[in-house]
Amino acid sequence: MKRKIAIFASGSGSNAENIISYFEKNDKFEFPLILSNKPDAYVHQRAKKLQIPSFYFSKESFIDGNEILDFLNTYKIDSIILAGFLLKVPEVLVQAFPNNIINIHPALLPKFGGKGMYGDNVHKAVKASGETESGITVHYVNEHYDDGNIILQVKCALNDLDTPESIADKVHGLEYEFFPKAIEQIWA
Ligand code: GRF
Repeated sequence: MKRKIAIFASGSGSNAENIISYFEKNDKFEFPLILSNKPDAYVHQRAKKLQIPSFYFSKESFIDGNEILDFLNTYKIDSIILAGFLLKVPEVLVQAFPNNIINIHPALLPKFGGKGMYGDNVHKAVKASGETESGITVHYVNEHYDDGNIILQVKCALNDLDTPESIADKVHGLEYEFFPKAIEQIWA
């Protein structure tokens, strides 16, 4: 039986689309739904294109967790991928999916992680601190922001000419290549 994976995304959803396309013809995983805390997030358009149902839940509902848990159980979801999802995962979900929720962070944790460190904020902070490298971290999710055990890190070199935008491009490139591989590594 295929592992049923729900993807949570708050924004554009390019990682969500990349993962779903990467595993389009596989016999290990299926992606029955995408959940978002933003009704107008672009990920809903991508879901439509991919013919995958996507749903919006309010921030309050996500924070409470119980309604989401019931919903995930209805779909018999086994695992959760956070792909650009900005809210903290509530304890009720962490406990219901032990070692079965993973996140991607667009920097080399434990640096540049924690509350407020998401999206462009991360790349601006990396630039401001004069780092010579950045990268991606795929990790298990626990009750704290960006804190669970690390599954995979991949680095890219930075130079003086890099801007937050060019760092974001480099990091996105790594995400597209390595996030699906990390998923295969742990769950295939
Ligand atoms: C990615 O860089 C991811 O690492 C971060 O948010 C971004 C989401 O991009 N957490 P997208 O929505 O997948 O395009």
